[in-house]
Amino acid sequence: MSAPAAYSIEAEHLRRVYHRGPEEIAAVDDISLRIEKGSFTSIIGPSGSGKTTLINVLGCLDNPTSGKLTLEGRVVFENGQGLSEAKLTRARRDVFGYIFQKFYLVSTLTVLENVVLPFTFFRKPGAGEEVPRVLELLGIDKRIDHLPGQLSGGEMQRVAIARALVNKPDILLADEPTGNLDTARSEEIGRILQELNTREGLTVILVTHNPRLAALAQRTIELRDGRIHAA
Ligand SMILES: Nc1ncnc2c1ncn2[C@@H]1O[C@H](COP(=O)(O)OP(=O)(O)O)[C@@H](O)[C@H]1O
Ligand SMILES: [Mg+2]
Repeated sequence: MSAPAAYSIEAEHLRRVYHRGPEEIAAVDDISLRIEKGSFTSIIGPSGSGKTTLINVLGCLDNPTSGKLTLEGRVVFENGQGLSEAKLTRARRDVFGYIFQKFYLVSTLTVLENVVLPFTFFRKPGAGEEVPRVLELLGIDKRIDHLPGQLSGGEMQRVAIARALVNKPDILLADEPTGNLDTARSEEIGRILQELNTREGLTVILVTHNPRLAALAQRTIELRDGRIHAA
């Protein structure tokens, strides 16, 4: 048996190039980094610096143009070649939980129905037992019969986090999760992410504009023009 991987994610010379007419934009430009298992990393940088592109590539939502990406010790992209779409789909649902600035809740479904929506597509063994615990952890256990429209923004994001957790991910990726929330609600979400990291052992990567939130992480990576400016 091989030893368990020490790193959740290893990136070597990652590039992601977009074409806009004749112009080439390297949104991620030669980024190498290692994310330790069980760590909490924040990614900051000005608008357009490549934060979303980077987190999407790390999270297998987008393919790099070149470079190497290794996930829990398994190479997922190298030499311009990625895993098959089927294997990528499996990585997305087995390994990652995703949280975005927009909550993407289904307005006609209740809180509980939204949270268990991932089970429609896939259910990790034992994942159902997680639901009551996750609802309680996120403080939405009294809200399960409500529709999203009856919730505050902070509650909606907590529902979205619960939905990201029900399939027991190893890595939680959050791209500006508090972009639509006020200060108090943002800090609440920050504390939740911190707790998920320290208590549940999840590897957390948080993209944020908010310095107070970024400071919750053990390590901050600052991007400029698609490159690591400071880490
Ligand atoms: N789909 C796309 N097509 C072309 N250019 C893009 C696309 N997505 C992002 N970009 C460009 O890549 C750069 C980085 O964007 P992004 O990763 O969204 O940055 P951030 O999240 O830090 O604001 C920007 O210059 C942006 O305009
Ligand atoms: Mg962005």
